[in-house]
Amino acid sequence: MQVLNFDTIVIGSGLAGLAAAYHASKHGTVAILSKSQLDTSNSYYAQGGIAGAIAEEDSPELHYHDTVVAGRGLCEKEAVQLLVNEGRDRILELIELGMQFDKKDGDYVLGLEGGHSKRRILHAGGDATGKALTCFLLQVVQEQPNITSFEYTAVTRLLMEDGQCTGVQAIDFITGKSMLVTAKASILATGGLSRLFSRTTNPHTATGDGIALAYEAGAELADMEFIQFHPSALYLKDKDAFLISEAVRGEGAWLLNANGERFMKEVHPLAELAPRDIVAFSIYRQMQKLKSPHIYLSLKHLNPEKIKTRFSTIYNKLKEYGYDMTSDLLPIAPAAHYMVGGIRTDLNGETNIPGLFACGEVASTGVMGSNRLASNSLLECLVFGKRASEQAAKRKPLSPKQTAPAALSNDPRNEEAFLLLKNKVADLMSEKVGIVRNGKQLEETIIQLEALLKQLPAEITDYNELKAKQIIQICLLISRSALLREESRGGHIREDFQHESPDFRLHIIQQKNKEPLFIPIQK
Ligand code: FAD
Ligand code: SIN
Repeated sequence: MQVLNFDTIVIGSGLAGLAAAYHASKHGTVAILSKSQLDTSNSYYAQGGIAGAIAEEDSPELHYHDTVVAGRGLCEKEAVQLLVNEGRDRILELIELGMQFDKKDGDYVLGLEGGHSKRRILHAGGDATGKALTCFLLQVVQEQPNITSFEYTAVTRLLMEDGQCTGVQAIDFITGKSMLVTAKASILATGGLSRLFSRTTNPHTATGDGIALAYEAGAELADMEFIQFHPSALYLKDKDAFLISEAVRGEGAWLLNANGERFMKEVHPLAELAPRDIVAFSIYRQMQKLKSPHIYLSLKHLNPEKIKTRFSTIYNKLKEYGYDMTSDLLPIAPAAHYMVGGIRTDLNGETNIPGLFACGEVASTGVMGSNRLASNSLLECLVFGKRASEQAAKRKPLSPKQTAPAALSNDPRNEEAFLLLKNKVADLMSEKVGIVRNGKQLEETIIQLEALLKQLPAEITDYNELKAKQIIQICLLISRSALLREESRGGHIREDFQHESPDFRLHIIQQKNKEPLFIPIQK
């Protein structure tokens, strides 16, 4: 088995991974391992933009306020302060490096999204912010001589020695061979898990691998029950749920129910721009009430030329589906979009396992509370990607005595069985652990998932078996945490516990072979 050594390993090449790798490269050698092409990630598909209090009439204090209001009592104060203050610095740093956000007459054009009290969303290429940001940072990363990238290389195990993480085992899809990569620090930047739901805005990479790897190694996971459903994803039977950015509502688009009535004005003073959890749940209620699988998004009253320029990616994609977004009613429904909880870290991205760090969507730093404020996640990637890599650099070099764990096979004949299982689990999660949950259905889901887990071989020897085990375990973690949280808050709504409860102003922590912990938020 090939064995390599670097100072820092970064797992994942989305914005968090790229930011972490760039900053880590100032301190030593870096390996980026990505199971996809380097530019396939949630980050690449980001549309709306990146939140930053850069306007004169805005301030980090206002951004802080909007973030904690959206987070509904579960945000960690210090983490949010870092996000909004350092976030602004990270954006300015990127601009200094050459990143170009959209400007008009020399000034940045700032978008508006749900829950923001000011226009503060920087965007690039209109609605192609993720593509512009990741391609820009990828180029910067590729210019660093001490960063080596491995595409199509999935990390399959974290190496542990004397309670520390000493590196990773990975499988290279091109050669089919396993490899060991050792380092004094490993940074998980593997993104979210919304692809474990059948209706999702996420690309195929978002299967929560980092969660499963960290859990297996003994890391603490926080608040796994909070899944953010994006309100406006195109609804077409048997087609993927293509995201129609919240920024479209920021420019004035309306939500209409199946009868063509605008309903958000009665629900919240910000109407269509209420925080995301409220909008998604209100849409769900309208769909239930009128027995319709979707509602509509309408832009008919807006300036068509402005829409076509500002949202050219969305406009062109909808054209492919036969819709003109400036004049047609667009069928939309919520879709799983973002994992709010994740691997529990401190403010420097450090987990409870020495040598193991996490940043970006896979991490739970405390900034998102129970519901993420729109466009705060790209910002989180930049802020905590840098913090994690700088903390990682402080670690002393290791001399691992690692003996290689057995290599996994990657037999293509197992692929079909895996895909069948994956689709079955995704349907189950969408049906029973979706926007609205209840205790009975969660218990049923846990029983079904446990039964599926028992059907897998006791010893995993193949990559497809590993993936199957990982997705079942992650879905169990979400469902168990959702069952424990007997209240409705942010991205977790229980029809049997419909109100927010002061007793649940706490994080639910899960760790392998341990009872769950309930940790109150810091005052
Ligand atoms: P990702 O960008 O998902 O990157 C994860 C990386 O890890 C990928 O390269 C993947 O291949 C790799 N990986 C996963 N598992 C393994 C493994 N086992 N081994 C090796 N590599 C692995 N947020 C905003 O702030 N603003 C927006 O406008 C916005 N729009 C969005 C639009 C869409 C359609 C989506 C899906 C999300 C959007 N979000 C937005 C959310 C935001 O894009 C993500 O939360 C953020 O980009 C996550 O970045 P990340 O680097 O943590 O993960
Ligand atoms: C969007 O453009 O609506 C997505 C923004 C986000 O997820 O933060």
